[in-house]
This record gives sequence, structure tokens and C-alpha cells, in this order.
Amino acid sequence: MTLKDMIPNVKPTIPIEDIQPILEDIKSILISRKLILGPHLQEFETQFKKYIGTDVAVGVGSAGTALQLLYQFFDVANKEVVMPALNFITVANAVIWAGGKPVFCDTAPDSFLPSLQSLKEKITPRTRGVVLVHITGHINPEIEEIKAFCKKNNLFLIEDCSHAHGSEYNGVKAGNMCDVGVFSFYPTKVMTSGTGGMVTTNNKEIENYLLSTRHHGQGKNLMDCQNLGGGWPLTEMAAVLGKYQLKHLEEWVRKRNAIADRYNKAFVNHHAIRLILPHGRSAYYKYQVMLAPECKKEEFIARMEGKGIACGEVYNPPIHLQPVYQKKFGYTRGMYPNTEAVCKCLVALPTFVEMKIEEQDIVINAVKESI
Ligand SMILES: Cc1ncc(COP(=O)(O)O)c(C=O)c1O
Repeated sequence: MTLKDMIPNVKPTIPIEDIQPILEDIKSILISRKLILGPHLQEFETQFKKYIGTDVAVGVGSAGTALQLLYQFFDVANKEVVMPALNFITVANAVIWAGGKPVFCDTAPDSFLPSLQSLKEKITPRTRGVVLVHITGHINPEIEEIKAFCKKNNLFLIEDCSHAHGSEYNGVKAGNMCDVGVFSFYPTKVMTSGTGGMVTTNNKEIENYLLSTRHHGQGKNLMDCQNLGGGWPLTEMAAVLGKYQLKHLEEWVRKRNAIADRYNKAFVNHHAIRLILPHGRSAYYKYQVMLAPECKKEEFIARMEGKGIACGEVYNPPIHLQPVYQKKFGYTRGMYPNTEAVCKCLVALPTFVEMKIEEQDIVINAVKESI
């Protein structure tokens, strides 16, 4: 079986009818010579903040860059930022780039999200703030309690919405739930701009800081740099792709939910599969289930691959078991037991907007045969 014949785990959607208008816009960019900080970025930001419901959206080169700039804004140097160990490595790296220390917390038992209690255990007088990650688009069931706790203790709360374009709880979109939201448009995400990121907030100070730092820290102009910045705006060409993707986002999130519903119905009574239902609406960047430990996940994934189906993992290894964190900071196995236990069981089944029902049926049957 070649890679081409496999049912992929994720796949970006670029509708064929979008390609010509995208090319026209890119041609106009090339003719105008306005390659950065032009009208397409402005339009994308305007549409994005309207969709999320915030006053502000600022496009940057990537979610990782956005996080670094936000950590700088919150002045984490020589301070600690608490975040889940079950997380994408750049969320932690960016704290280090900003001069601070990432501190990891465990997940709640049998969950891929942390509990308020697991966050609380890591708070010290040096803690400056907390990052929540809406993994696979699922909102933390204790979001309100975590918000109240952070507010009471004067801690910033960043929501990493890199999996959560279109996730929603109580009528509020991810990206408008905490002090500030960060989105990634990496190619595999729910929507993409090739590479790129967006920050959403209602805080004008954050907006001003990002508008400056994404372009070398400029004040009135580049002869008047007021902040420590870099060359990190979302480019005009990336903004064009993002703009067209955003038009489809609602429909795509609905399709992803329909795929998740079909999987849920197929596995609800399965003896070895535990479903993970969202709190509110998930964007279902990925569809994860928890396999019973006796299923031996690695062997299950290999059997699925043998049947032409790519399974995914979010995130394995967790950050503390990434070789670089073990080598540089001495983290070892056993430090985050719930995280390590769920990592052994979590598996993501193929989920992409263009997935056909017949393909999903192949996956469902293959799962049942492979356990
Ligand atoms: C949760 C999370 N945060 C941040 C990032 C980083 O995104 P980017 O590649 O846009 O820097 C990713 C990337 O995949 C991610 O999954």
C-alpha cells in the first residue's frame, strides 16, 4: 500500500472553486508590490474578529510567534507560566524564548485536559499566568472555574485555540473566552494560511503591543522602534488563503461534527472504546477516543496502518518526555502520571472535511476488527 492509497488522518481542505480567486488576489498583490501589512491582512483580521466576536484580531507569522510576543507582553521573564504537559512543544518553548520558565501540570484522571485542581497544584509566588489548550477543539469543562481562579489570583489566562477554530461554549467562541486567544493556521489545522497565526482579544494594549512587535517593534515607523520585536506579520499572500478558508469555516466545523457524531454512534457501546464528548461545540480538529489499555495502542495503530488507515496522536510524547526537555531540564517518566496513562490510550481517527461516508465506514470497520 502506498501513502497515496492510505486514508489520511488529517488533510487540509482547499476547495477547487477557491483556487482561481486566490490566484487573482495573489496577482494583485504582486502587481501592487504590497507584500506585507496590506489590505488583505486587514480584511482577514476584520473578518476573523467578527467571526470570533472580539474587538481585536492581529495576524502574525505563526501561533508560536504569537505566544512568544504575548509572553513578552505579560513580562514572564524570570517568572513561571503553568500549562499542561499534554501540549504542543512550542507553547512551552515560547516561554523560554521570552525569558521565563514553563511549568507543566498533569491532566485530570482519564482526561486529556487539566482540572482546576491540577493547575492549582503548580501555582507558586513566581507564577505569572496560565495557558489552556483546547486540545482537538474540546473546551475545558472547568473553564469558568479556571477563569475565576486566574482572575482572583491576578494571573493572565491565554487560551491556545490552535485546534479550536469555531469551538464554542455557552454561545461564546474559543478565542473570546479568556484574556487572549491564539490561533494557528498550520497546514493541518481546521483552517490554514500555509503557515500563520492570529491573536484575538478585547484588550487594546495587547493589540498595540502586537502591531508594534510583529513588525520589528516599530512605533511611528522603523526609525522609532519602541519594543523588542521581529519580522513576524502574517504575509499578504497567507492572508488571502486565510480569508478564503474563513468563509467555509462554519460549514467545515459542522461537517467535522457530523463525522464525530457518526463515529460516536458506531462506538458508543464498544467494550474497549471510551468516547470523549465535548463541553459545548468542538471544532473537532481531531477525533480522539480512549482505547482500553489491553488494546495496546501501538499494535492497534500498526494494524490500522496495515489496513491503509493513518491514526494520529495528540500529543505523544507529552512535552516533558520530548528528548530536548529530558536532556535540557531533566524531566523523567513518571512525573505526570495521568498524562502518561492517557497517552498510552488516546488515538485519533481520520477526520477531514472531504472524508466520504464510505471512507468513514472503512475506518469504523477497521477499528472494530483491529481491537
Ligand atoms: C496547540 C498548539 N499550539 C501552538 C502550535 C504552533 O502553531 P504554529 O505552527 O502556527 O506556530 C500548534 C501547532 O501545531 C499547536 O497544536
